[in-house]
Amino acid sequence: MSEKSSRLPGFYRLSMAERTDVVAQWADLTADEKAILAGAGLSDEQANLMIENVVGTYKLPLGIAANFLVNGRDYLIPMVVEEPSVVAAISNAARLIRAGGGFTTTATDPVMIGQIQVLDVADMETAVAALNAAKPELLERANCCDKVMVRLGGGARDIEIRPFADTPVGPMIVVHLLFDVRDAMGANAINTCVEDLAPIVADLTGGRTNLRILSNLADRRTATASGIIPAAALTQDDAEGTEVAQWIAEANAFAVVDPYRAATHNKGIMNGIDAVCLATGNDWRAIEAGAHAYAARNGRYAALTDWHVNENGDLYGEITLPMAVGIVGGATKVHPTAKVAMKILNVESASELAQVMAAVGLAQNLAAIRALATTGIQKGHMRLHARQVAMAAGASGPQVQQIANQLVAEKKIHIERAKELLNQP
Ligand code: MEV
Repeated sequence: MSEKSSRLPGFYRLSMAERTDVVAQWADLTADEKAILAGAGLSDEQANLMIENVVGTYKLPLGIAANFLVNGRDYLIPMVVEEPSVVAAISNAARLIRAGGGFTTTATDPVMIGQIQVLDVADMETAVAALNAAKPELLERANCCDKVMVRLGGGARDIEIRPFADTPVGPMIVVHLLFDVRDAMGANAINTCVEDLAPIVADLTGGRTNLRILSNLADRRTATASGIIPAAALTQDDAEGTEVAQWIAEANAFAVVDPYRAATHNKGIMNGIDAVCLATGNDWRAIEAGAHAYAARNGRYAALTDWHVNENGDLYGEITLPMAVGIVGGATKVHPTAKVAMKILNVESASELAQVMAAVGLAQNLAAIRALATTGIQKGHMRLHARQVAMAAGASGPQVQQIANQLVAEKKIHIERAKELLNQP
């Protein structure tokens, strides 16, 4: 069982400084790390070294989601996101899943795919046979390319050969290198290896290689999270928990059959996952690309989740998706705030981070479809959105909450009304 609890009752009522204190104590943060959370994050000098043509930095809120119990361990989840209600909603959902014993998660080995495109092949059959025969040689060469990864227990795992007889540019062979990248996201390792292998592949096939790049459809590197919510925990004033469980299962079924709904359903999942990617300095576009391509793997775009009522009448949820995240290299180790976020998460491997992120996706989805299947999304969302509307109208300090409260009370959450209220004597 966990040595410390991520249940933080009343956390949302604290001031920012008080919340930082709670998190600092929980994660054993130093004074410097606290200062980073308080704003001393990425310096201009660091920013200037990260990308090109830098003119400044761009701040976003960093929130902490509470209540996560994953494989018997408690986690506080750092989330960077601009959308109101994401952090509150996920903390509530994690509490519901906690009531059923928390999340159970697993992950495959962190095997990424590198692709080599081969063209101008005179004899496809002979070329494919030559590649098949040379698999041991290709794997050995790939391992030589990244000896550090091999020493750490990773390295080349397989070669796949995928002939396409008919493409807009004639016959094509795509060679896949499957490579275990351990705790890295892996893009650099994979790209280096496939660039190195390409001339050998060209020789073996008698063809010409063109692209050599990793695939973001990282379907050999997936994470799975599941959880059970006791029906009783879903009971609300106007509905039995068993009814709510059924409505949530129906909501999921909607996204299983209809791509129009699935896009929105999966967007809700990514609200959570992207926020952790951003907080930890991971490449959220890679995760987005992988998730959506995986959602369409059976030829039709569908939900990434399964929610159904189980044999005990409780709600069971599960998600599996590619999760190419790293804990070494990249912004994870450069961005000061990402480093603090990683310390708060306290994960020991990329696999553990991937599993926590799958749990985040499942919880975020539960929060969304539960709200949608019961009160509707707008009630809670607009209450929080009202603060942004008040700020957009020019409110500051304590005015923001006052105006937001008034907008909610009047059910007029729009900028014109907020401006009127601000200009009232
Ligand atoms: C909004 O950012 C996300 C939702 O639309 C997700 C969903 O509909 O499942 C609420």
